[in-house]
Amino acid sequence: MVPLPLRRVLAGPPSGGTPVTLPNGMRIRHWQKIETNFLYPEIFGADSVYAKGDFIEFRPGAVIVDAGANIGMFTLFAARQCRGEAQVFAFEPIPTTFSVLAANAAAANRGDYAAAMDARPGASLTVHAINRGLSDTSDEVIFQYHPNFTLWSTQDAEFARQRLDRFVSDVAGMIRVLPSRLGRIAVRPVVAWMGRTKTVTVSLVPLSSVIEEYRLDRIDVLKVDVEGAEVAVLQGITAQHWDLIRQVVLEVEYFATKDRVVEMLEARGFTTSWFASERERYGAVQSEVCMVYAWRAEDRP
Ligand SMILES: C[S@@+](CC[C@H](N)C(=O)[O-])C[C@H]1O[C@@H](n2cnc3c(N)ncnc32)[C@H](O)[C@@H]1O
Repeated sequence: MVPLPLRRVLAGPPSGGTPVTLPNGMRIRHWQKIETNFLYPEIFGADSVYAKGDFIEFRPGAVIVDAGANIGMFTLFAARQCRGEAQVFAFEPIPTTFSVLAANAAAANRGDYAAAMDARPGASLTVHAINRGLSDTSDEVIFQYHPNFTLWSTQDAEFARQRLDRFVSDVAGMIRVLPSRLGRIAVRPVVAWMGRTKTVTVSLVPLSSVIEEYRLDRIDVLKVDVEGAEVAVLQGITAQHWDLIRQVVLEVEYFATKDRVVEMLEARGFTTSWFASERERYGAVQSEVCMVYAWRAEDRP
């Protein structure tokens, strides 16, 4: 008989997640501590990647698309930056992760976070949680779902494999007391746990179909963090819809993808900037994670 706490670890959290209070006072539902503790500073912290350089402006009344919403941390951040007045379309394809996002979206729509968002009087917030992935096609595809580290779930099995290799080597490199070969041996079981995958069938949709379905006349901020599907998300926007998109913030995992994305965005009239930490930029680690920011110069007086 497997003892209860171990059974809980093996089974993962229940559908819909469990409650937790974030340092900013929002009582949300989450999947597990390890991911929330990692995400919170990246999104809500003083050095938030979404506030860096003030490249992206969030204004009350904004229409926001969150591609790769996970449990909704960026969605809540964006809504707070808009002082609780926004319409957010949050896409998360993995059903169990989506169940947590849906619970947080419902709480946001009820006004549960109005105080933590310093919402303006009469502000109205609508979060549409959508259980689909964004891409360049409408299709049903197999995803690699990581139940122990949902942030890594991806459509691309090769991308998942390469990321694990890079991660092992970068984390092993941080264990300075061990030679790197021993460091790798020490890190492998933890990474194997984080990298465990299940396959799930998910449904994809191009952003242009969403724009038409909801009759959107603008998207003030398009955020994309989709584990290797960034280019496909941008390719899902047809020529007649590009002008509706005013700002883009994207996380990419490879410098080559960053170059491609920057080229695509500049060809559509955006001014761009990008950021990677010094460790990534100067090759101290194998990771090449970086952020791309894009805006339209005519929107900035
Ligand atoms: C790193 S997490 C995003 C974290 C994020 N910055 C946030 O707001 O919390 C990436 C998420 O993207 C989802 N995902 C992967 N491919 C996707 C796609 N094509 N469209 C939408 N979401 C996707 C994954 O299931 C995962 O939950």
